Amino acid sequence: MRRDGSSAAALSTLTALRASGRPIVMLTAYDFPSGRVAEEAGVDVVLVGDSAAMTVLGYETTRAIATDELLMLTRAVRRAVTRVPLVGDLPFGSYEHSDASAVATARRFVDDAGCDTVKLEGAGTMLARVRAIVAAGIPVVGHVGLLPQSVTSPDGYRARGRDAEQALAIVADAEALETVGCVALVIEAVPAEIGALVTERTSIPVIGIGAGAATGGQVLVYHDLLGLGEGRVPRFVRRYADTRGTLVDAVRRWADDVRSGAFPTREEGYGMPAEAMAEVRERLRMSS
Ligand code: KIV
Repeated sequence: MRRDGSSAAALSTLTALRASGRPIVMLTAYDFPSGRVAEEAGVDVVLVGDSAAMTVLGYETTRAIATDELLMLTRAVRRAVTRVPLVGDLPFGSYEHSDASAVATARRFVDDAGCDTVKLEGAGTMLARVRAIVAAGIPVVGHVGLLPQSVTSPDGYRARGRDAEQALAIVADAEALETVGCVALVIEAVPAEIGALVTERTSIPVIGIGAGAATGGQVLVYHDLLGLGEGRVPRFVRRYADTRGTLVDAVRRWADDVRSGAFPTREEGYGMPAEAMAEVRERLRMSS
């Protein structure tokens, strides 16, 4: 989609999806193959999430990924994703401190990595950052509920908005993000009731992850959906494959074949005319 340099096209895709009433399907991707899989499978929007920090770079939290690391992954996904909007996550520490830094980082994701829109986490002081990025002509997706960039330890991934005060704050944040110009929202790990309420009270697409079935769409992390990661996954993940198991099994069988001599066979290599080989041997014999 970005091939024509059009963030406007991405925006109208999101708006049209919301208007159609059909749930929006968003998936994360982190490299060329995952981008290809996402697009070939027909997802509506691809997000290069900063979850890449954990899924592909092995960091403990999303806070560790550097802007250059995420940009490199985003460029790879953009090479694969040509038909649907691409959302780039702004990494922790790259946009919070000033409007200027927010705009500069957002520009890198659009100009250097080809994103159609960027995503950032939170409201409050981030509302000014959203306003500044939007004023620079870059569409912004907001993110409310559980904000992974604020999580500093593994036990921090609990659902948010389960009491009235937190729930009201999430609703207020979502409304404020719409007011300052967000084109869509991601809402993460909140009760289904709050996912529904935020969807009802805003007119932009609301894409849920662990936010119930009433949001305008769903997003999942590629590695979670495909069973590519290790360890526990959040309760809102449905695994559609055990890809990691399949991969480990395949590599193990190949290693066994190498060790037993079953790999490679003659057919899995290149042949050589017998005369040419005879000449090689003869010339080696002559020269020794
Ligand atoms: O980084 C990410 O993958 C995300 C999703 C959880 C929406 O922000």
